[in-house]
Amino acid sequence: MNDKASRPAIAARDAGTSSVRTIPVKSKAAVYESLRTALRELITDQTDFLANISNFAALLFTSLPNLNWAGFYLLRGSDLVLGPFQGKPACSCIAMGDGVCGTAALQRAAVLVPNVHAFPGHIVCDEASQSEMVIPVFKDSRLIGVLDLDSPHLGRFDDTDREQIEALLRMEPAPARVFFDTTLELSSGEYEVAGDARAR
Ligand code: SME
Repeated sequence: MNDKASRPAIAARDAGTSSVRTIPVKSKAAVYESLRTALRELITDQTDFLANISNFAALLFTSLPNLNWAGFYLLRGSDLVLGPFQGKPACSCIAMGDGVCGTAALQRAAVLVPNVHAFPGHIVCDEASQSEMVIPVFKDSRLIGVLDLDSPHLGRFDDTDREQIEALLRMEPAPARVFFDTTLELSSGEYEVAGDARAR
């Protein structure tokens, strides 16, 4: 954690822009607890896949300190196609095995990259990014995409972040709504992601 973490607020400056987001310092556990509560409220009465993952990305981006990008890539054939996100415009298609996202998808396992410059094949979407975490998203045991988080700080993500976010991806709100349980059909219907995106 950098030395600013001990101050009352963290000023996260996005390189290349003049914007500064001031984020109250909370313990990591408290941040994830409030994030869980907010996510539950957002998705309990909404079963639409696209609405829920859009709000999920926005909630992560606005709740977690020191992020410059948060969003989903959805599996289409053997490629990952850009889904709902917050942050700068990003590459729209990543092949399986390419970059951090494609590596996590291929390995069906989360990838934490403390320094993106040291990751062979890292795909640069925002030059401000210094560290990254990518978590695969499953329906039952079937991969349907990945969740990608970028930070302008080195070593931003740890196993606590991974565990907490994996748990959010598995969350089932009460009443027993399924997290992502509708079929997403975009434009001509050529792109279809069926069903529930809960992780395993
Ligand atoms: N850095 C990613 C590409 C996606 S952007 O960070 C949004 C990668 O290497 O796969």
